[in-house]
Amino acid sequence: MSSHSFTPRLTLLDLRKLAAKRKLAMLTCYDASFAATLDAAGIDIILIGDSLGMVVQGHDSTLPVTVADVAYHTACVARGAARPWIIADMPFGSFQAGPEPAFANAVTLMQAGSQMVKIEGGAEMAATVEFMVRRGIPVCGHIGLTPQSVNVFGGYRVQGRGADAAARLLADARAVQDAGAAMMVIEATPEPLARRIAEETALITIGIGASAACTGQVLVLHDLLGVGVGKRPRFVKNFLQGADSIDAAVRTYIADVQAGRFPGSEHVYAESAGP
Ligand code: KIV
Repeated sequence: MSSHSFTPRLTLLDLRKLAAKRKLAMLTCYDASFAATLDAAGIDIILIGDSLGMVVQGHDSTLPVTVADVAYHTACVARGAARPWIIADMPFGSFQAGPEPAFANAVTLMQAGSQMVKIEGGAEMAATVEFMVRRGIPVCGHIGLTPQSVNVFGGYRVQGRGADAAARLLADARAVQDAGAAMMVIEATPEPLARRIAEETALITIGIGASAACTGQVLVLHDLLGVGVGKRPRFVKNFLQGADSIDAAVRTYIADVQAGRFPGSEHVYAESAGP
């Protein structure tokens, strides 16, 4: 008999059971060594975000990232992390053309080692979400500030301010949920709206600049570690400050998220931008 020890990977069912007891902690990650560090620290979910275009590849947006890039980093992460649920981000241009090309690209990412794919967008993506879920691919939506639409938004700006925009975002969340998505990232959205989406949908909601009421939270790993230069969005917290190691910083983030201590009011957005 083999003495090989086997860590079972978390399932969506496990995540729902955990979420009934505490908040879920998610981080982005792009390589095997950090994936092993996050796994040992107890992270629940790892996202191979297309943020890799900015923090790994040095681009000024996520738009240049390809399916091959995300598949490569997903395979690296999957080799390093045994327990966390792994989500691969579908990059710009890989899913917007319709359900069939989206499905084919999602298969590449699932075969690289993810258990779910994430796509940006709302009601306009419902048919694509439904097509993928019905064919065995769990989907995480992403609404609010969707960075692949930076050129439409005119910058990385808070989304969902004002009654019309808020109603559209709520309808988007419902449409993606009704199409079969199990999870939803809500990014840079006024706190009251994000809270409403978290409370009024059955989705596992993951906030980033959203609300502490979400089922869980995500940060870009480099932001958590204070790596990089330039102005940081409001939702970023450098957990390495005051910690004596990367491991300690990651563990503090996980503990703070799980206990509902992060995000604080200083990390979320008000309904109006103020004077
Ligand atoms: O690409 C990414 O890292 C993301 C997170 C910010 C949610 O989409």
